[in-house]
Amino acid sequence: MSHGRFDNPLQAALAGVNDLYRSQPLAAKLTDDLRLDGRTVFITGASSGLGFAAAMDFAARGARVLMVARSGVPERAAAIRDATGNGDVEMMQADLSDLEQVHRVADWLTDRGPLDVVVENAGMASPRATPTPQGLEAMFVTNYLSKFVLIDRLLSDGTIPNSVVHGGPTSAPKPRIVVVSSDSHQGASAIDWDEFGVLKPFGVNGAINNYSYFKLILNTWAVELSRRLAPDDRVDVFVHVMCPGPVNTNIIREAPWMLRGMLKAIFTVFFRSPIVAARPLVYIAGHDDFAHETGRYLHMFRPKRMDPKCYDRTEGQRLWKRSQALVAGVR
Ligand SMILES: NC(=O)c1ccc[n+]([C@@H]2O[C@H](COP(=O)([O-])OP(=O)(O)OC[C@H]3O[C@@H](n4cnc5c(N)ncnc54)[C@H](OP(=O)(O)O)[C@@H]3O)[C@@H](O)[C@H]2O)c1
Repeated sequence: MSHGRFDNPLQAALAGVNDLYRSQPLAAKLTDDLRLDGRTVFITGASSGLGFAAAMDFAARGARVLMVARSGVPERAAAIRDATGNGDVEMMQADLSDLEQVHRVADWLTDRGPLDVVVENAGMASPRATPTPQGLEAMFVTNYLSKFVLIDRLLSDGTIPNSVVHGGPTSAPKPRIVVVSSDSHQGASAIDWDEFGVLKPFGVNGAINNYSYFKLILNTWAVELSRRLAPDDRVDVFVHVMCPGPVNTNIIREAPWMLRGMLKAIFTVFFRSPIVAARPLVYIAGHDDFAHETGRYLHMFRPKRMDPKCYDRTEGQRLWKRSQALVAGVR
């Protein structure tokens, strides 16, 4: 059964182009005088595309930046240190589709915490189902489940200071978790609980379908997380979601060569550069505008509602329990 919004990658790319022509009312609000000195920002998927551009921007604004990816370690961190003159940039190598490695990332971060901002950015669009060491599917784990595990560890360890899960003191300004998603989640189907976490084969069209569906799952978790981290309406840790809009990145690197050629042409002509697309991410991660209300969603610089299914409390609680069950015993 198909769960996603798009039936093929070209349809998804053209929908992205269409998004670019909508207004972005807050675009002028991110200015060069936003400084992040004294803050520690951790970002996943920082070797390429949006993640690398955002890491560069965070470092240029004075933040201490911690990065993770499978490749480009440590050269991509060195490139940021050289370009910005900020020496406080470190990088760890990990494959986030392997949950044991996700725990190693948590250990690495705990040695370097506390974290002020965590950006869950890593994502992939794999043209086929790939099993992980835990017998799960790699895109499902990279794009959703690894984030559930990592944030759970960082909150339990107090690496993201919080009083809700860890019971420790909270910091000022309050920590922030930003989840990089995709507006393609709008219109994906409700979560299929019979198939949740099941490794099932898929091809290129199934991949783009699953991509949007896994982003719906991701957003449903992010909304549930935002509720759990704001008990009695008192926000302990802010949780926000954003979509960068169409960006000319390496996300299609695994597509079959002919399709990749067609998509790359669309990406190159119409999509925005990672540096431009990272601006709303930097804004939502660092600006005081996002230190009042939790659970906000930006589509580029446009505040928006997510798909209504993402706000369903019963679904959010069920997702939490089913995710916990999937990762139980992995450490
Ligand atoms: N491009 C777009 O038009 C677009 C639109 C909407 C949303 N997004 C979202 O933006 C985010 C960033 O994607 P991008 O477009 O910048 O693509 P990208 O250039 O391919 O970057 C993806 C990043 O994620 C990392 N990554 C992928 N799988 C990983 C794994 N298993 N373990 C660790 N790191 C992994 C990659 O690093 P390594 O390969 O070195 O591990 C890379 O740094 C994703 O969440 C994507 O869904 C993109």
